[in-house]
Amino acid sequence: MPKVIAIDGPSGSGKSTTAKGVAQRLGLQYLDTGAMYRAVTRAYLDAGVDPSDTDGLIRATRAAEVEISTCPSDQWVRVNGRDVTAAIREPEVSAKVSAISTIPECRQNLVSRQRAIIEASDPGIVAEGRDITTVVAPDADVRILLTADPQVRMARRKAELGEKVDAVALADQVLRRDADDSKLVNFSTAADGVVNLDCTYLTLDETIDAVLSLARSANVC
Ligand code: DC
Repeated sequence: MPKVIAIDGPSGSGKSTTAKGVAQRLGLQYLDTGAMYRAVTRAYLDAGVDPSDTDGLIRATRAAEVEISTCPSDQWVRVNGRDVTAAIREPEVSAKVSAISTIPECRQNLVSRQRAIIEASDPGIVAEGRDITTVVAPDADVRILLTADPQVRMARRKAELGEKVDAVALADQVLRRDADDSKLVNFSTAADGVVNLDCTYLTLDETIDAVLSLARSANVC
């Protein structure tokens, strides 16, 4: 049985950087489930499917062949044979990804692929996304909801995107996306058995240390 650390949380809470750091420290694999939603979004946009065409989006999701690296220090994503590692971070993808993440059939399809990756991981994996602790891996050894105040999350996302991002685009990427994504998934309150780790006043290293300490208590390391 692989060791599994599951981390949920809203945009800009630092899930990806924290999860990657924890995976590197523990010699575990790492799964960025958001990158899978983004890869499918890149595929439907490239295929010319309209974001309001629900049936088209479901078909595009089922047809999308997604390959994703689980190495925390070498992340890449391919969809239908094309490397989209950089393309999935484009603003157009961030703006249109909720079309996929708000359709239950698309979510089910991606959730089963994510479960398969987690089950095949060796010796284990740190998986992060919006619904990992509740839907994808509710039996994970460690389940954490990583939160931070909205102003701090906006500032962190801005630091990630650079000075060129304006306030409207930033609010769209953090607040509007969370509002859309929370229609189907609750990632603002910790479910039973999930530890709420508020990293508003923690540095990245302190956040990673807090996760490692929870992992030690659960005998993951
Ligand atoms: O974490 P991210 O910003 O790269 O995620 C991109 C989008 O994918 C986000 O708007 C919500 C969706 N997503 C999801 O619904 N469930 C997940 N487990 C991961 C991401």
